[in-house]
This record gives sequence, structure tokens and C-alpha cells, in this order.
Amino acid sequence: MKYKTLTQYLVEQQREHKAVSADVRLLIETVSRACKAISHAVSKGALGGVLGSLGTENVQGEVQKKLDVLSNEILLEANEWGGNLAAMASEEMQTIHRIPNHYPKGQNLLLFDPLDGSSNIDVNVSIGTIFSVLQAPAEAAGREIAEADFLQPGTRQVAAGYAVYGPQTMLVLTVGAGVMGFTLDREMGSWLLTHENIRLPEQTAEFAINMSNMRHWEAPVRRYIDECLQGETGPLGKNYNMRWIASMVADVHRILTRGGVFMYPRDARASGRKGKLRLMYEANPMSFLVEQAGGRAVDGAGRILDIQPEALHQRVGVILGSREEVERLQRYHQEA
Ligand code: AHG
Ligand code: MN
Ligand code: MN
Ligand code: MN
Repeated sequence: MKYKTLTQYLVEQQREHKAVSADVRLLIETVSRACKAISHAVSKGALGGVLGSLGTENVQGEVQKKLDVLSNEILLEANEWGGNLAAMASEEMQTIHRIPNHYPKGQNLLLFDPLDGSSNIDVNVSIGTIFSVLQAPAEAAGREIAEADFLQPGTRQVAAGYAVYGPQTMLVLTVGAGVMGFTLDREMGSWLLTHENIRLPEQTAEFAINMSNMRHWEAPVRRYIDECLQGETGPLGKNYNMRWIASMVADVHRILTRGGVFMYPRDARASGRKGKLRLMYEANPMSFLVEQAGGRAVDGAGRILDIQPEALHQRVGVILGSREEVERLQRYHQEA
């Protein structure tokens, strides 16, 4: 079987379908190259001295793992010199990272969660990298990029994707023309298109949520999970299964593959806490992918991609996956 490479796919998208500009194509190539380097570091584990924590805390108030910081550095270095970016933003950086003056600048903005699923690094469970691409606003031309230039709704993303470092390393990508899955061929060093046009099953009987937070959930989520747990004699009429990997990348990858619903809802912990996941580099790129695969993504009653961001590290409730289940959860929120 001969597979198309990522490069071939992107060139076709640029040339024949105009789904991607030359600039964004090069940017995706660079990000995917950085993901190869991260994958390599991840797979070395203890042998590469990459396990364990650093003493530092990030802007989220989380203790940084060595791989959080290493992956962030790999992405920064890979993307600084390409000439197609104005600035970058990351879970692991307090504020935006502008392209240094000695490099040419472009019009794109890159956002990333360099290493998703940090709590799974040291226990050898799948982890990943998530990224999102926006364009700098036209009025920013000729002046320095500011944090506010990043605060655009997810509908403005021109590309998004993730790499998952699991039994196989895969890159799952959208440029707004469906969702494509590429498997890393380590011998050749290339990404091969093994999963063309990924579609998310509309129905499911599998949910993913951290049940230990149940007492903090909002009422509509409690109602839904309670109905799931009642099984086929309950109002949903099905026996549900549960999975929770605690790496969003791995949970979303499973859901894109065989359906399901993923929830990290808003909850009542800490004052004003909106949920755990971050809008700009977790919720938005994953919502773009899920919608492109025929699924839905909401924060409760509303669509995630329509949210006007107020801060770079803003948190948001996330409910995404198979269309029928997410619509049901959305209805429960509207009724509440
Ligand atoms: P990160 O490792 O990038 O900080 O993200 C972790 C997130 C996400 O990947 C996962 O779905 C969730 O945190 C798991 O949270 P719990 O440990 O609360 O289950
Ligand atoms: Mn983190
Ligand atoms: Mn994450
Ligand atoms: Mn992370």
C-alpha cells in the first residue's frame, strides 16, 4: 500500500483546493517536524533523562514537567526562523513570544499546548501536542503584535491539529477541509496519510469524564451522567461504557476514531473557575477538528468556536464528540 505523505497532501490542498496558503503549508510542515523531535524525546524516556519534574511552576499554577518545558523549547526553536509567523503563544509561557527582530516575520499566529497529558508522562501512557493557527489582524500590520491580537474566536482558525505519542505516533490535522490522520513512519521520517477523511460516528454509548469531580459538576452534566449510568432501562435506553485517559489528546483521538463524548465541564471549584481546559490551545483546536469530523463541541449551551476570548489563558467548560449526545447535553443546559 502506497500512502500519500503530509507534504503531498498539503501541496494538493494548496494547489487544487486552495484550502491552505503557501505560508500556512510551510508552518504546518515546521510544526509537524517539531512534533517528530518531541516524539523522539518522549520515546527515549528515562534513557534520555526526560522524565520527572522541574522545580518551576507555569502561569497555570501547575508544576512543570521536564517534557513540558523541553517540548515548548522545541516548538519555539523550530518555528522562530521560518518567516511565516508574527508571534506564538503557549500554555507554558506567561505571555506571547514575538519573533525576534533578526528573523523575517509573517502574518500567522501559532498557539500550542506543547505537551498535553503531563500527568501521564512518567507512567508511560499516551500524551500529545495540540496546535492552532490564526492570522494576525490586518490592523496589526506595521506595528508590534500584542496579546490582544490573539483573542479571536475559534471560527477564525485556519488550521488546527494534534500529535499523539502513543503505541503509534500520529498527526491529526484540519485545514478546514475535513480531518486527516497521518502515521509517523520512523524509518523514513515521514508522516503518511493512513486515515483519510476521519468521520465521527453520530451516536455513541461511551462517555469520558473524570468522575472524581462529580460533586462539583453543574446540574445538566449530573443529569446526563446519571441517565448514562441507568443503562438500557433508563431514559437513554443504552448501556454506556466509560473511558478516561486524562490526556485530552488521547481521549479525543479515541472519540474521533470510534465515537463518544468527552467532558471537562465547568465546575464549582475555586471561585469563578470556568473549567480546567484552556480555550485558546486546547478547546478551540479540538473543537475545530471535532466539527470538521461531523461532531459538536459546546461549553454548555453554546458553541465553543463562537466564544469571543477575553484572555490568552482563559479556561472553558468542554463537552465534545458525537453529534447526538452533545446536542442532548446542550439541550439539558438550555432547559436548566
Ligand atoms: P496539560 O497536561 O496540558 O496541563 O493538560 C491536562 C488536561 C487534559 O489533557 C486532560 O484531559 C485533563 O487535564 C486531565 O485532568 P484530570 O487530571 O483532572 O483528570
Ligand atoms: Mn499543564
Ligand atoms: Mn493540555
Ligand atoms: Mn500541556
